[in-house]
Amino acid sequence: MSGPRWFASPDDASRRLGESGYLADAATAVTAYLTGALEKPLLVEGPAGVGKTELAKAVSRATGADLVRLQCYEGLDEARALYEWNYKKQLLRIQAESAGSSWQETHDEIFTEEFLLTRPLLTAIRRDEATVLLVDEVDKTDVEVEGLLLEVLSDFQVTIPELGTVEAVRRPFVVLTSNATRELSEALKRRCLYLHLDYPSAEREREIVTRQVPDLDERIAEQLVATIGRLRDLDLKKSPSIAESVDWARTLLALEIKDLDTTAIDETLGVVLKHSSDQAKAVRELRLRA
Ligand SMILES: Nc1ncnc2c1ncn2[C@@H]1O[C@H](COP(=O)(O)OP(=O)(O)OP(=O)(O)O)[C@@H](O)[C@H]1O
Ligand SMILES: [Mg+2]
Repeated sequence: MSGPRWFASPDDASRRLGESGYLADAATAVTAYLTGALEKPLLVEGPAGVGKTELAKAVSRATGADLVRLQCYEGLDEARALYEWNYKKQLLRIQAESAGSSWQETHDEIFTEEFLLTRPLLTAIRRDEATVLLVDEVDKTDVEVEGLLLEVLSDFQVTIPELGTVEAVRRPFVVLTSNATRELSEALKRRCLYLHLDYPSAEREREIVTRQVPDLDERIAEQLVATIGRLRDLDLKKSPSIAESVDWARTLLALEIKDLDTTAIDETLGVVLKHSSDQAKAVRELRLRA
């Protein structure tokens, strides 16, 4: 297989991601390995705060490859995602030119590298060095950008009419993330490997929390993870994510809370639940004010 080897095996992926602070479950480790080995883009879907974006960052840390990020949003267009011409500079050049030169000469001069503004997709494709390309929150863009992604990620090449075709020297490790607020096209999915990330097992979540907040008491960590699990079982507007578990751990440590009893939970619930209706429900269901 051509190109760089990202991870030697699923075990290697698991170990090196772990060393860089990302605790991957078996499915994630296998998928990370395959993404590198097959040089196919990876689409990661799942609820907020389960480590989708962090996975791309962790691959970059674990492999030493630079991260190029395209943050998607409504209204993102080709000029922001791929490239655009630096019109201002072109105009200045045209004004500065003596009237003597022909339009063709001027044209050939202003549609050159010097006047090209490369955006993340083109940047990632043109880099000689190993690159992780993170296309974050694809579901927030319009269908047109999806079409553009489809083109770029199928052949890893971009045609700029005035300059010609730019082909990737080495394929980036591509991670697309989505909260699944809308269905992505089948055509895009077909080109990707797919990973559904969900809330971790209690055991792995405890590992993540204690790794990030090493000073946290083991017993509290256990209580915290168990409580988070109970909260996730409630039908809440926004279930607590891993990020909130970690924040909660930091909070409990800062407050020097030694036991996560109902009072302690009640006092710090705002770190975990950010809707008053969710808080009310939790108080009711967990009988915090019994
Ligand atoms: N497997 C993991 N190992 C270590 N830390 C993790 C893991 N998964 C998630 N985290 C922690 O959770 C935080 C939130 O993860 P991340 O930002 O990747 O969420 P996300 O899935 O991209 O959410 P969103 O959809 O809101 O963007 C990370 O900053 C990281 O600290
Ligand atoms: Mg994210």
